[in-house]
Amino acid sequence: MTAKTILITGAGSGIGRALATEAARHGHRLILVGRRSGPLEQTAQALGGDPLILPADVTTAEGRARIVGAIAKTGLDILINNAGMVPAGQIEAMDDAAIADTLALNIAAPLALTRDLLAPLSASKGQVVNMGSVFGDIGFPFFTLYSASKFALRGMSDALRRELAPRGVAVTYIAPRATRTDAADGFHTLVGPMAMTLDTPQAVAAHAWRAIAARKREQLPASRERLFVILQRLRPGLIDRALIRLARDPAVIAAARETTS
Ligand SMILES: NC(=O)c1ccc[n+]([C@@H]2O[C@H](COP(=O)([O-])OP(=O)(O)OC[C@H]3O[C@@H](n4cnc5c(N)ncnc54)[C@H](OP(=O)(O)O)[C@@H]3O)[C@@H](O)[C@H]2O)c1
Repeated sequence: MTAKTILITGAGSGIGRALATEAARHGHRLILVGRRSGPLEQTAQALGGDPLILPADVTTAEGRARIVGAIAKTGLDILINNAGMVPAGQIEAMDDAAIADTLALNIAAPLALTRDLLAPLSASKGQVVNMGSVFGDIGFPFFTLYSASKFALRGMSDALRRELAPRGVAVTYIAPRATRTDAADGFHTLVGPMAMTLDTPQAVAAHAWRAIAARKREQLPASRERLFVILQRLRPGLIDRALIRLARDPAVIAAARETTS
């Protein structure tokens, strides 16, 4: 890949920071977006080079307008819609604000930001990368709101890929399994009872990078979760049985009540 201009949302921590590191290692120009400038500056220091730090809230029209203004000067080859939150817990604990905030960040913002940046992306025959999750294929008990948002993001990715292909813009959907980041702190009580294995953000970013560089349509994890996603697509009843068993487990129910995300 020749040197590209790449914008990453949520670049101040976790998977976003690791993706920025990966992209910088390959010699690309970076634009780092997040609400807080402190974490973005820490990412910039870790990268070296001279990334553009752009504090902006992607859920607001003002935040997106700041991004559009900056891109008017730099151009854009790859937009990585990575910023997201991972709510967990029983459905009764999901109040209206949690539902609205999650859908605003995890699906409305990627849709709106992609729309707002379509002109520069079309000019460069660029790429949109959406950070999904295996929970965007496997509706997971006690991650109902999160699964709903990532299913929507996967649907958006498919529709957008087909709509933008005639303009030469690629769309890549990345589906990591659970990853050790700040977002995972909120559901740590479920990790043991649900037998989750957590990847490092660095491993997720390196795996994602291969799909981004190849402009692939999607990237599933290279672990057993890939098989679970394929089973979900082919034999959803099998996944139902396994996950209903999990949802009945008193230890899992107790852990779900203790989540803080
Ligand atoms: N951790 C996992 O288990 C896991 C697994 C699969 C997929 N993912 C996905 O990976 C992506 C990154 O999550 P992560 O795990 O790396 O979590 P994280 O470390 O909490 O990162 C989320 C980032 O998003 C930024 N952000 C939050 N709200 C924002 C807003 N309104 N505007 C701009 N930036 C905003 C945050 O920075 P500020 O607070 O400074 O804005 C933060 O840097 C998410 O889409 C998540 O769904 C995570």
